Amino acid sequence: MAKKVQIAPSILSADFGKLSAEIAEVQPFSDRIHFDVMDGHFVPNISFGAPILKWVKTKLPIDVHLMIERPWLYLGDFVKAGGDLIIVHSEVCAKTGKNSLVNVLKIVKRLGAKTGVSIKPKTSVETLVKQLGKKWLSHLDQILIMTVEPGFGGQSFMPKMVGKIGQLRKMGFKGDIAIDGGINAKTGKVCVEAGADILIAGNYIFGAKDRVKAVKSLR
Ligand code: DX5
Ligand code: ZN
Repeated sequence: MAKKVQIAPSILSADFGKLSAEIAEVQPFSDRIHFDVMDGHFVPNISFGAPILKWVKTKLPIDVHLMIERPWLYLGDFVKAGGDLIIVHSEVCAKTGKNSLVNVLKIVKRLGAKTGVSIKPKTSVETLVKQLGKKWLSHLDQILIMTVEPGFGGQSFMPKMVGKIGQLRKMGFKGDIAIDGGINAKTGKVCVEAGADILIAGNYIFGAKDRVKAVKSLR
C-alpha cells in the first residue's frame, strides 16, 4: 500500500495574535506542525524563536525549520522549548569540525530530538549526500527540499525541484522527504506522485477562508 502523505501546516502564515486557536483549528486534520525560524541573516526576514515555540501547544510533533546562520548555538533551546524534530540548513554548516553538518546532527540526536536537513533550491542533492556521508544518509529522519527561496511565505512553487525527490531515493535515502514552499492542492499532488512524504503549507492553509477544506484538499 502507498505510504500516506503527512500534512504539516506552517504557522508562519497564521495569525500570531491567536496562535493557539489557529493551531487548534487545523490540528485534527494535520500530522505535524511546521515552525519556521528566520534570523534576518541566512534569509532576509525575521520570524520567531524558542521563546515563542515554548507557547505553541499542540499534540502533534513539531518540526523546527532553522533558517539561521549558526544553528548549533540554539539547538538545546529549541529542543527544550518543545521541538520534536530539528531541521538545519546544509549550507550554513562547516566542511569539517564541530560545526560540520554531521556533528550538528549528532548533537540534535544526543538532545533527544529527531534529525532533519534542508537544502535551498540551488543546493544539489549530490552536494548534500556528499556532506552527509553514507551513514547519515540512512540515519537521518527528514530531508526538506525547498521549492522556493527560503525567507517568505506565499511564493510560487519551483517545479524543477521535484526531480530532487527521485534523486534522493535513488541515492538510498529512506527517511521522510518533505517539500516546503508554494504547496497547494495542485503542486502538492505533483510532489506526492513523485514520492514526497510530507507536504508543508503556510499560505495555502492559513490564507484560506476554509482552512479545514484546504488541509483536506492536500491529501
Ligand atoms: C519559507 C518557509 C516555509 C513557508 C511556506 O521560507 O520555510 O515553510 O512558510 O510557506 P508557503 O506555503 O506560503 O509557501
Ligand atoms: Zn519551512
